[in-house]
Amino acid sequence: MITVTEILQPVEKDIEILLKDLRSLIGAGHPILQAAAEHLFSAGGKRLRPGIVLLISRAISKDGNLTEKHRRLAEITEMIHTASLVHDDVVDDASTRRGVPTVHSRFNHRVAVLAGDFLFAQASWHLANLDNLEVVKLLSRVIMDLADGEIKQGLNRYESDQSFEAYLEKSYCKTASLMANSCRAAGSLSGLNDDYLKLLHLFGKKLGLAFQVVDDILDFTGNEKQLGKPAASDLASGYLTAPVLYALEEKPSLSGLIEREFSREGDLENALNLVRESNAINKSRELAEKFAEESREALNWLPESPSRRALLELPEFVLSRLF
Ligand code: IPE
Ligand code: MG
Ligand code: MG
Repeated sequence: MITVTEILQPVEKDIEILLKDLRSLIGAGHPILQAAAEHLFSAGGKRLRPGIVLLISRAISKDGNLTEKHRRLAEITEMIHTASLVHDDVVDDASTRRGVPTVHSRFNHRVAVLAGDFLFAQASWHLANLDNLEVVKLLSRVIMDLADGEIKQGLNRYESDQSFEAYLEKSYCKTASLMANSCRAAGSLSGLNDDYLKLLHLFGKKLGLAFQVVDDILDFTGNEKQLGKPAASDLASGYLTAPVLYALEEKPSLSGLIEREFSREGDLENALNLVRESNAINKSRELAEKFAEESREALNWLPESPSRRALLELPEFVLSRLF
């Protein structure tokens, strides 16, 4: 099985620089927020999103070097991602992430809300300072999409008649938008033409959707130790993801359990079993495979390089988390 470290090998040094820069960018001022940020940036995140930005930037670079702006874009991407996780964990009342306590459980809710805001604000400031209006538009759109996705998900809880399209749209907003727009922004900083920018967006979008569907499958099939966060928590919170939506087509009795919000003894176990014994996990896996394939195809124009090879392996890596 491929590991994330292997995939990100062409940008290993760049990620070291990125982590050092992130610490000093966030460091200024507030000791409590610094403690929260330190907690976040030291705890086992995969650095997948900044890694993708760095790989794309290297793969399209004429002389093989990275500009300071490309590096800063990768840092902004990680800040936005981390901020969204801190707030998401508050909204979901999640106790652990990446195998360690979340910010609100390690500190408190006040600190988590402030730390998330602080990171979003820092990201916006550094984004504006890139002095590239196109990139500002792409990444501020991501912040809008993240909020939009979180709100959509919050409003659709326990709605067993929600459409698959609504689920995919929510997944685009919560996960794929950041990957799509940060990839496109890397191309924009390099002055690529619109056809290539569209393909970079498509790559990130399909990769993000594959990633989210895989994440949603793992919530049903993984355990807490593998995931670094509690398993089987989506359905319990009323979040209906691909496996549930497919299972509803096969097992109509599932909708009754969802609609009464698992209020009776054994409801949640019954619902989990209905999903697990249906064909829904297989169908979800096929969907993730389709997205991964489409993602790979979007990058076949890249010139040969170690970064290109890594990028083409990424969709496969995302799927490999399932095995
Ligand atoms: C988690 O993303 C949030 C989702 C969009 C599903 P990751 O699993 O990539 O989080 P880290 O950064 O590696 O912890
Ligand atoms: Mg969550
Ligand atoms: Mg959430």
